[in-house]
Amino acid sequence: MSIQTDKIQELVERRAEARLGGGADRIEAQHKKGKLTARERLALLLDEGSFEEFDQFVQHRCTNFGMEKSHPDGDGVVTGQGTIDGRLVYVFAQDFTVNGGSLSKTMSEKICKVMDMAARNGAPCIGLNDSGGARIQEGIDALAGYGEIFERNILSSGVVPQISGIFGPCAGGAVYSPALTDFTVMVQDTSYMFLTGPAVVKQVTGEEVNQEELGGAAVHSSKSGVAHFAAADDKEGIQTIKELLSYLPQNNMQSAPLCPTADPAGRADDALNDIIPDNPNKAYDMYAIIGSIVDDGKFFEVHKNFAKNIIVGFAHMNGQSVGVVANQPNVLAGVLDINASRKAARFVRFCDAFNIPLVTLVDVPGFLCGTQQEYGAIITNGAKLLYAYGEATVPKVTVTLRKSYGGAHIVMSCKQLRGDVNYAWPTASIAVMGAEGAVDVLFKNAGDEREQKINEYNDLFSNPYRAAEKGYIEDVIEPRNTRFRVIRALETLKGKKQDIPAKKHDNLPL
Ligand code: HXC
Repeated sequence: MSIQTDKIQELVERRAEARLGGGADRIEAQHKKGKLTARERLALLLDEGSFEEFDQFVQHRCTNFGMEKSHPDGDGVVTGQGTIDGRLVYVFAQDFTVNGGSLSKTMSEKICKVMDMAARNGAPCIGLNDSGGARIQEGIDALAGYGEIFERNILSSGVVPQISGIFGPCAGGAVYSPALTDFTVMVQDTSYMFLTGPAVVKQVTGEEVNQEELGGAAVHSSKSGVAHFAAADDKEGIQTIKELLSYLPQNNMQSAPLCPTADPAGRADDALNDIIPDNPNKAYDMYAIIGSIVDDGKFFEVHKNFAKNIIVGFAHMNGQSVGVVANQPNVLAGVLDINASRKAARFVRFCDAFNIPLVTLVDVPGFLCGTQQEYGAIITNGAKLLYAYGEATVPKVTVTLRKSYGGAHIVMSCKQLRGDVNYAWPTASIAVMGAEGAVDVLFKNAGDEREQKINEYNDLFSNPYRAAEKGYIEDVIEPRNTRFRVIRALETLKGKKQDIPAKKHDNLPL
């Protein structure tokens, strides 16, 4: 054998060893927990043969607590570049089989390198987290590593899409990197996120709670809103990330890819002419309307189980990626509360940052009232949504289906908040408030005349024509034509240019 052959053999062997991570036993333990390894996850995520690994031979430099005795190649994270549906992405996947995926200074350097490349080359960055947190033996060096990652999360925000998969533990300050990214996908039963674990919680507050109840996928995707998606297992989690990416552009200077469809742009749907109940207090399902107007009825929902009174998600309309925001009359009558406002505001800002037009479907009775909401700062939180719509410069097409009352009318992408094209169905009622509430304020002692006053108010305001007469909406449209009208509006807005005044940065009400 020549020296060269020997050297190539050494490379092959070193690679093979690095690929084994913490070894066969630990890989088996990972599988027994129902989890895939870092490399298996990347294999599912990336197009076959597209992965190019970086820094496979990087080793930690720690000499505390016997760490000098073991220097696994790669140091517990697999990083590199690849493609998803032919589009470049940068990735890192923590390997729990190596020191519990704990973050060393060198691991952070590997992660920062791909984050820098993603930002520089204008491609999304996807991080798959599965880690025991800061590598305890390294002390402050590991913490510094987190700080460097957070800095990049912040600087890349609004520049390239950042997506986090939580596929195992993610605890302590480590949770703040996913929290800074655009979307977080968690896996049920095998992943959790919390600042302090159950043992510390018990010690400090006396509260007894298990990992799942404290920070599992179900909790974060329904109660806290920290996670945007909860997947049944690793495979579904990876699939969710891939599907999400298909609606997003590579970076903030590009548009999302077109998704060709055979669904005709002019397709009318007669069912929509009958969908609004005669009784204004009766609910109906907003999903039916979204499904009717988007391409092929396909809607990719974000935050499906959180603040269900508002619906947000991605779809295509005539092949163009759009962000859909819609009140859901089926849940709390579609009222805006703190969580709904936060959820929609974050989504609107994401779409605006990444050139994704907004389609808003309105049926909103107002803001939720009461001490719980006021003490929780519905004022500040509602202002977030107002702010998000007002500052957004992407094309904004709004259709009011039924109620659009008071402050909530203004918040939900109205004309005065730089709405581009605002339509209403004939069933729309655009007013300061509903008829009964209005009459009870104006005519406290109406007595027997209350009914008559309500009818008068309804005749005057429970329609879209007061708004149309003032030019506050562009047109009253037949429901069956909604798909066509929205698509045509979006086509005309493709060349839209709108600025915001120069500033260092805004001061969004946080
Ligand atoms: C070094 C770690 C580690 C860590 C796990 N390991 N976490 N090594 N630093 N943070 C090692 C374990 O010693 C073990 O090594 C191997 O990884 C697998 O861990 P196990 O405990 O056997 O696995 P499991 O039973 O599944 O439990 C996983 C776990 C637990 C719940 C994550 O390991 C754990 O509680 N780890 C510590 C979590 C923690 O407190 N991290 C610091 C958080 S503070 P061997 O060789 O024995 O197999 C933080 C600050 C960030 O992260 C600040 C940012 C600003």
